[in-house]
Amino acid sequence: MAEETEKRKADHIRICLEKKAQAKRATPGFEDVQFIHRALPELDRQKIALSTSFLGKKLAAPLIVGAMTGGTNEATKINAAIAQAAEALHLGMGLGSQRAAIEDKKLEGTYAVARKKAPTAFLIANLGGVQLAHGYGLREAKKAVEMIGADALAIHMNPLQEAIQPEGQTNFAFVLAKIVEIAGGLDVPVVVKETGCGISAEDAKALENAGVKAIDIGGVGGTSFAAVEYYRSTNGKMMDEDFWDWGIPTVTSLIETTQTVKIPVIASGGVRSGLDAAKALALNASLASVSQPVLEVAVKGTTETQELLSCLIDELRNVMFLVGAKNLEALAKVPVVVTGKTAEWLNIRGFDTTNYAQRSTQTFEY
Ligand SMILES: Cc1cc2nc3c(=O)[nH]c(=O)nc-3n(C[C@H](O)[C@H](O)[C@H](O)COP(=O)(O)O)c2cc1C
Repeated sequence: MAEETEKRKADHIRICLEKKAQAKRATPGFEDVQFIHRALPELDRQKIALSTSFLGKKLAAPLIVGAMTGGTNEATKINAAIAQAAEALHLGMGLGSQRAAIEDKKLEGTYAVARKKAPTAFLIANLGGVQLAHGYGLREAKKAVEMIGADALAIHMNPLQEAIQPEGQTNFAFVLAKIVEIAGGLDVPVVVKETGCGISAEDAKALENAGVKAIDIGGVGGTSFAAVEYYRSTNGKMMDEDFWDWGIPTVTSLIETTQTVKIPVIASGGVRSGLDAAKALALNASLASVSQPVLEVAVKGTTETQELLSCLIDELRNVMFLVGAKNLEALAKVPVVVTGKTAEWLNIRGFDTTNYAQRSTQTFEY
């Protein structure tokens, strides 16, 4: 069982590096979100403040690296590179599912390396929601947190992946009750995340009521686990591509959830630039999270990882400059026009998209 998990983790890394395991026709929806350019930004770009606090921890910018890996030798190197970069830039990082190390203690180091290399960064432990329906509980949650000295625990929901994976586990009954138990009994906050299919308003509300302290929407438009499983299928029976685009696009999911819950929401799934991150933050995300593009640089090393993350932050700063936002509170108040399929979906679902456009442009402050 442990070996099988380890092999699956190695496959995921290889496929996400070598194949285009991204949504095909679906996009995250950032093209439907437009800022109003300010010819008069009336601020000094260098003085723009990007710092924020999230679940009680300070971050230098509202950016984290999403949960990816652990459990293999290669994962140790990847986690070390990401952790070092996150520490240097004062950002956050999610670790991949820690089930492998819960099944086999020898693998703990492949995750714990992150805390070693990032003694102060915001680290998020990770367990699969489906494991909660198969016997995992508070004990395993505590183990995962202790293993990396985590500041929070993410419980990932991946029903699509489990459904199409040949060895997938598909009993998701009573997962919510287990989330209530863990959220109530753990010393650190619990985050629930999707892994590329998005979170609806209804599920977000249920999670907030369950005591979850933040939601990571993980919308469709970036890495597709249906694509990853397609490339993993070796049993001769090629899977079709119908599910590569399954789910709620990132921007749609972000608007549904932020208009429904009061807890912080992380935007992820196809965030590929500082401009995407800025759009998510303007739509009231508390953080943006990037995964696959970071994997590509993390296999090269810490410097490359740090360069990519710095680039994203620099671009975010540029957008804030061009919309006249001196800090993240101001960015969340600038006018934003939401159009296209995203607006259509949201309007059918009863969410208001004109409210973002009707925000008044920032008044000048001297
Ligand atoms: C190689 C790889 C492994 C992943 N493993 C996990 C995991 O173990 N746990 C988890 O919660 N999400 C996992 N994810 C999902 C990411 O956290 C994220 O939700 C998803 O990749 C969408 O972000 P992206 O489009 O920026 O890649 C993984 C993603 C990748 C690329």
